[in-house]
Amino acid sequence: MTEHKKITIRTLFNKVAEGEPISWLTCYDYPTAYFQEEAGIDMILVGDSLGMTMLGYDSTLPVTMNDMIRHTQAVRRGAPTVFLVGDMPYMSYQPSTETAILNAGRFMAEAYCDAIKLEGGAEMADRIEGIVKAGIPAIGHLGLTPQSVSALGGYRVQGRGAQQAKKIIEDAKALEEAGAFAILLEMVPDRVTKIITERANHCIIMSLGSGPDAHGQLLIYHDMFGLYPKFKPRMAKVFGNAGEVILNGLQQYNKEVKNKAFPQPENWFTIKDEEYNELEKLLK
Ligand code: KIV
Repeated sequence: MTEHKKITIRTLFNKVAEGEPISWLTCYDYPTAYFQEEAGIDMILVGDSLGMTMLGYDSTLPVTMNDMIRHTQAVRRGAPTVFLVGDMPYMSYQPSTETAILNAGRFMAEAYCDAIKLEGGAEMADRIEGIVKAGIPAIGHLGLTPQSVSALGGYRVQGRGAQQAKKIIEDAKALEEAGAFAILLEMVPDRVTKIITERANHCIIMSLGSGPDAHGQLLIYHDMFGLYPKFKPRMAKVFGNAGEVILNGLQQYNKEVKNKAFPQPENWFTIKDEEYNELEKLLK
């Protein structure tokens, strides 16, 4: 196990100043968190995408605060030094700034997060402001915002038209002015991302399918390893097909149980002869 230094906001801004891109991945469980920390990943997002990747829902909307807290706690146990971001689920911040602060506080107090993320543009600036004023670092999320997928008309690139691109650029500035220390751009065209990154004063711009000109990149862990069989987004790169490895292993296990190739003596435990003889006497 490698020793890792705790990653803080200051570490992240130092990386930006030094031109080192920030690596960010989603994660939802203890063992994966352990491996992500070992690999030197800078940031982890416990995304509400866990509704789909871990709980099997068709969208992120049914995910609750309690679901999020349970998974985030497990991730923190696996990755104590990574910069951990809790993703605020549907209706945990939309109703009011007070609701937003209380739920953001749960991520900090119950799951030891370093920051929270929430979706939305200028209309969510007051939520960001309230959370930041409560002493909680906040990250905005623009472009494709899955909690509004119905209003957006599906999972599609956002900001391809000039008017919509201008709105995303203005939203980014509004979130930065409200106090967001970072903004995630999801499925925004590369040149729009470049403008937002160039215009950011003290805000880290992260990209998910939004091109190379942000300060760092985010990927969904399950997409990287072929672990979400229903769908593979175009923006995701597969870094290894763990899904295939797991399926092959499961098929092999099933076959070996059926043909009695498993278990072998190294897979079970024995009792000494004298104890066994004694047992037989006891049972008579
Ligand atoms: O929930 C999540 O994983 C996210 C990403 C899609 C950015 O918010």
